[in-house]
Amino acid sequence: MSKKFYITTPIYYPSGNPHIGHCYTTVACDSIARYKRMQGYDVMFLTGTDEHGLKIEQKAAEEGVTPKEYVDVIVDRFKKLWSYMNISYDRYIRTTDDYHVESVQKIFKTLYDKGYIYKGKYSGKYCTPCESFWTDSQLDEHGCCPECHRPVKFAEEEAYFMKMSPFADRIEKLLTETDYLRPKTRAVELVNNFIKPGLEDLCVSRTSFTWGVPVSFDDKHVVYVWIDALSNYITALGYENSAYADFDKFWPADVHMVAKDIMRFHAIIWPAMLMALDLPLPKHLAVHGWITMAGKNGESEKMSKSLGNVVDPFVLGERYGQDAIRYHILREMALGADSLFSNEIMINRINSDLANGFGNLVSRTVAMADKYFGGTLPTERESDALDEEFKSVILGLCPTVDGFVDETKIKQALEAIFEGVSRANKYIDETEPWKLGKDESKKPRLAAVLYNLLEAIRITSALLAPFMPTTMPKVWEQIGASASDVEYDKLSKFGVLPEDVTVHKGEILFPRIDADKEIEELNDILRKNMEAAQAKLSGEEKGEAPAEPIELAPEITIDDFAKVEIRVAKVTACEKVKKSDKLLCLQLDDGMGGRQVVSGIAQYYAPEDLIGKKLQLIANLKPVKLRGVDSNGMICAADTPDGVKVIFVDDSIPVGSKIR
Ligand code: MSP
Repeated sequence: MSKKFYITTPIYYPSGNPHIGHCYTTVACDSIARYKRMQGYDVMFLTGTDEHGLKIEQKAAEEGVTPKEYVDVIVDRFKKLWSYMNISYDRYIRTTDDYHVESVQKIFKTLYDKGYIYKGKYSGKYCTPCESFWTDSQLDEHGCCPECHRPVKFAEEEAYFMKMSPFADRIEKLLTETDYLRPKTRAVELVNNFIKPGLEDLCVSRTSFTWGVPVSFDDKHVVYVWIDALSNYITALGYENSAYADFDKFWPADVHMVAKDIMRFHAIIWPAMLMALDLPLPKHLAVHGWITMAGKNGESEKMSKSLGNVVDPFVLGERYGQDAIRYHILREMALGADSLFSNEIMINRINSDLANGFGNLVSRTVAMADKYFGGTLPTERESDALDEEFKSVILGLCPTVDGFVDETKIKQALEAIFEGVSRANKYIDETEPWKLGKDESKKPRLAAVLYNLLEAIRITSALLAPFMPTTMPKVWEQIGASASDVEYDKLSKFGVLPEDVTVHKGEILFPRIDADKEIEELNDILRKNMEAAQAKLSGEEKGEAPAEPIELAPEITIDDFAKVEIRVAKVTACEKVKKSDKLLCLQLDDGMGGRQVVSGIAQYYAPEDLIGKKLQLIANLKPVKLRGVDSNGMICAADTPDGVKVIFVDDSIPVGSKIR
């Protein structure tokens, strides 16, 4: 039976153009998938897009297209980027795919039938752009969304919830006693922040928007985010659908890779869902940090569209080649930690490792074989004790890199390979082939040195190929290696290239970048892009457009409107209604002898904010009792992203004036 390997990226929100930050996980998973294929595994590498939700519904409305039309365009951009970056995914899931929708409905129903999902009410501070409810303690220092720092508003709605507490003990053990979570050091914060205080039930449906998977047995609700999104890892294999039949073959996943902001969902909610469905748990969750950018105040910030500091991978790829970009992002980020992106770091890295290190090793070796032997090595050789030490370093690389790849430590895998590259460059300095080349009697020694170097290049380039898949075949062409010479089982032995191997001088693999000129030019391009993105964002923020799409109520006639009598009134007294957090009781001078109105604005106004102010009163509304208190009419207020705001009236307008 062949060995199987299943690896996934998160599914991305197609709410804006993909950027270098999105590339990290995908390039990392691609490299691991390629490495495992090289090792002979039958690999399933899954990526895709998470296409439902209010944010998408809103963006589509802003552009006057349907949500599906909106996501289709962006999904296309993601796919173009992945093809540009040489991402070898085996399957691409879109959560709008019919088979996924069908499976999510079945999963939701199963969880409901098993008693893990129940109906309740959700209330809290809601951030519309992030589609997230937050508790007061999670809000930032200005009382705004902790993620995008925009204002939140109070919201409440009927919703389904998933019980989390039945799984708490098993999840704690999973995080602390197994090697599911990588790096495991992050288990402490998850356990202390979420499990120890008691796992809160998860809100799993919404009624406030429609762009989602409808709950099959209650179509007022759409499935909210995580049951829809996380299920992709199994629906894409054919779980609860007949589109694919790979579930038994590939589940459980070997590696889910995600960034730290969605660690909690993959470390707690996903295992809970699988436990509730009686399914085996994935083997590993690898969590990396963010690609960050230096912010205005000098601190680094996550690269993200909502901060307007994104770097366009196409701009970089066009200048330095996709492999250099892949190498740079993989080499800089240690599992679990953030990595700062800057043009300086990138260019220095490309110059030092790729141009001077690896590129130079290949070009020097090939050039010397060409110069001293016309390209074909003679078979007469003379070895030296030094060769054995050199060979053992190079032969140690493959098992070391295997280990790092298995632990999802890509930075370390690349560091190990580049130690081999440095060792090879040092071997050139030690053996001084240019001196050997001058003396005919030393040609057998020179041939041995060059052959050893070509073998070192064969092994290091084959190990690098999963990370830099475009460039390495060019190396093989130059060193005269056939496809079978670079197969995995030949990476732990020397003497694979033919004794009389012929090299072919070729193009420079990684041209050296003129750092001073390039950094200035590139900084300029990126600064302009960023300024444009930030200007667009602040325009969006400052604009008059409200956060949610406007849906008008059915049309009325002027006669209908005439039935509503709106009059100016002045607040003469005001107090909180006892035992209510929400209600204020206002005494109004309405020009008709005065009246009392109860209004649900206590969270937004203190009584003293209102006393003495003039406002608009719906004067002919039928009286009601609220919390046992009489209310004769209603005051007009607006719903805004910052909460409810009373419509005050200019003090010069007399009380009792009719508003029309
Ligand atoms: N749709 C959810 C994931 C659902 S998975 C079942 C989502 N999408 S996302 O598009 O916002 O982000 C996808 C991944 O990209 C996340 O892991 C996120 O952290 C990652 N990144 C987005 N910007 C990033 C950086 N600047 N750096 C590294 N990763 C970044 O979350």
